Amino acid sequence: MADDDTLPEYRTGSDSRTLRDALGCFATGVTVVTCFDSDGSPMGITANSFTSVSLDPPLLLVCIHKHSACASALLASEHFAVNVLQTWQQPASIRFSTRQEDRFGANDWSRGEFGAPVLQESLSVFECERNAVHEGGDHHILIGRVVKASFNPELDPLLYFRGKYRRLHFD
Ligand SMILES: Cc1cc2nc3c(=O)[nH]c(=O)nc-3n(C[C@H](O)[C@H](O)[C@H](O)COP(=O)(O)O)c2cc1C
Repeated sequence: MADDDTLPEYRTGSDSRTLRDALGCFATGVTVVTCFDSDGSPMGITANSFTSVSLDPPLLLVCIHKHSACASALLASEHFAVNVLQTWQQPASIRFSTRQEDRFGANDWSRGEFGAPVLQESLSVFECERNAVHEGGDHHILIGRVVKASFNPELDPLLYFRGKYRRLHFD
C-alpha cells in the first residue's frame, strides 16, 4: 500500500483535477436526465450526480452544470425523467454526454406518461415533477418529486468509477 505522504492530495486552491480524481473514487451508476424544451424537442444529459433524497415525500436530486445546453430547459420544464442506465446502454451514456450529436436519433425513446422523454430498455425510470432548484456553485441542484417509478429487475446497472465505465462483478 502507498505511503500516506505519496498519496494525491487536494487542498483549497490547488489543482481541481486532483479533486475530480478524489470524487471519481465514489463509484456510481449512470443516468440520462431528460425533458422537452419549449419547442417540444427532447433534451437529455448524462448525469451521475443522481441521489435519492426522501421517501415521504418521494424526492430525488440531480446536479446539472450551469453551462449545460440542457440546463435552461430542465429548469423551465414542469416535468423531467431520470433514466437509470443498464450495462448495454453505454453508447447512450456517451451520446448524451457528447456535444453536437443528435442525442435522441439513435436511441429508442417514447413520451412518458408525465410528459418527459423515456429511454426504452432502461434499468429504471423516475418520472418527476420539478419540486425545487437550489444553487450549487457551478451546478444547479434540481430536485424532483417522483410521480412514477418503474424498473426491470432482470437488468444490471452501467457503472462509472475513476472516469471509466464498469460492470458489476460477482464472485
Ligand atoms: C458518466 C458521466 C456522468 C456525468 N454526470 C454529470 C452530472 O451529474 N451533471 C452534469 O451537469 N454533467 C455531467 N456529465 C457531463 C455531461 O453529460 C456533459 O458535459 C454534457 O452532456 C455536455 O453537453 P451539453 O452542454 O450539451 O449538455 C457527466 C458525463 C459523464 C460521461
